[in-house]
Amino acid sequence: MEQYVIKGGNPLYGEVEIGGAKNAALAILAAAIMTDETVTIENLPNVRDINVLLQAIEEIGAQVDRVNLHKVKINGSFIRDVSVDNTFIRKIRASYYLIGALLGKYKRAEVALPGGCDIGSRPIDLHMKGFRAMGAKIDIAHGMVLAEAEKLTGTHIYLDKVSVGATINIMMAASMANGKTVIENAAKEPHVVDVANFLNSMGANIRGAGTDVVRIVGVEKLHKTEYSIIPDQIEAGTFMFAAAATGGDVLVKNVIPKHLEATTAKLLEVGCRVEEFDDAVRVISNGKLAHTQVTTLPYPGFPTDMQPQMAVLLGIADGTSTVTESIFENRFKYVDELTRMGANIKVESNIAIITGVKRYTGARVNAPDLRAGAALVIAGLIGEGITIVDDIYYIERGYEELHKKLGALGARIEKVSSDKEIQKFILKVS
Ligand code: EPZ
Repeated sequence: MEQYVIKGGNPLYGEVEIGGAKNAALAILAAAIMTDETVTIENLPNVRDINVLLQAIEEIGAQVDRVNLHKVKINGSFIRDVSVDNTFIRKIRASYYLIGALLGKYKRAEVALPGGCDIGSRPIDLHMKGFRAMGAKIDIAHGMVLAEAEKLTGTHIYLDKVSVGATINIMMAASMANGKTVIENAAKEPHVVDVANFLNSMGANIRGAGTDVVRIVGVEKLHKTEYSIIPDQIEAGTFMFAAAATGGDVLVKNVIPKHLEATTAKLLEVGCRVEEFDDAVRVISNGKLAHTQVTTLPYPGFPTDMQPQMAVLLGIADGTSTVTESIFENRFKYVDELTRMGANIKVESNIAIITGVKRYTGARVNAPDLRAGAALVIAGLIGEGITIVDDIYYIERGYEELHKKLGALGARIEKVSSDKEIQKFILKVS
């Protein structure tokens, strides 16, 4: 297995380029198979989950031409199988988008139940509720979701909970149903809007994405398109927080500042300076951070995918802060790891009470999931001495070359895969 090894203490200075949004790209790759013409997708993030989904799409017969690490052409006309199941696809959450895409186009889908980061039970009942409301028969058997419909008929769907996945999945299936579908209490995340824009560029008729009521009028066929994925607001936020934690000055490029409003607001609250440009934000910090309170909420609230990174920042802030996780029921698993680095955090149900400490101390820690892993890397950047982050497999699911991008900003970090290499790194930096 591979690890990141980090020597803490260097403020981050310079510029970093943000990649395409993983959570938009995963849905868009699935939606790309809904036409029999060729779809070209650019600004694709080269991360593990993307590569797993592309492999699954190829396995059912679609033509996948990886033009380069960040560009792919997909043609769904050769799909011969609507059953998607392999050891890798069971590990990612976004496999569920293939249900909506295949059901929309072929009125049939057999997809392994989704996996994904262990941050809660993560049911897909709302997805199924939407498909059933459109006339699909859904069964779950042998670890697979079996969906089929004589035809899909547009209808009115109220989502009991705001769900990114369910909003996108129902939107996909409805784009090729008969008649009009209305999704109420829809998720408003930027990646929901990106998927709607992508489908509309293929000839779909979707209005209201980004508000809590999305209206879709189904069409017979979708056609080819060329599309570029929006920047990843969570990768951007992670680098913004790394700059804040290390007391640095970083220009985060290729972002949409509007998508970062909640993240920027919290950085201002804890005492950082943030300058906004058309497609970049600059974070300047002296490393002295004030305490504050945060509650994760659906967009445009503070994103749950930035919750662990926020806790790391508040762990070295003056005074006592609280972080309330309102989206997932088990997203504080990293607290035990952060405690090994000297953090003073007490979790009571879905609230973390954080008493700021002077400094973290380096330790060997495990990444429990994607975003928590990135947060532990930030803790290592400011921890005294050496931090080793194990299980970076999780981090690489959603961050492309994280260690290289941080290294280019002045961090002392390397990806290693043996104790010998760890010793070599320690000698080099001591
Ligand atoms: C997406 O997960 C993202 N993953 C998550 O990012 C992100 O944290 C989440 O949206 C919220 O923004 C992908 O896009 C692949 P939800 P998703 O449906 O769609 C409950 C990352 O780090 N719910 O919005 O699974 C659910 O349990 C990952 O990139 C149901 O009850 O999230 C949760 O409590 C982690 N029934 C809440 O809704 C359902 O049918 C929000 O989940 C669906 C969801």
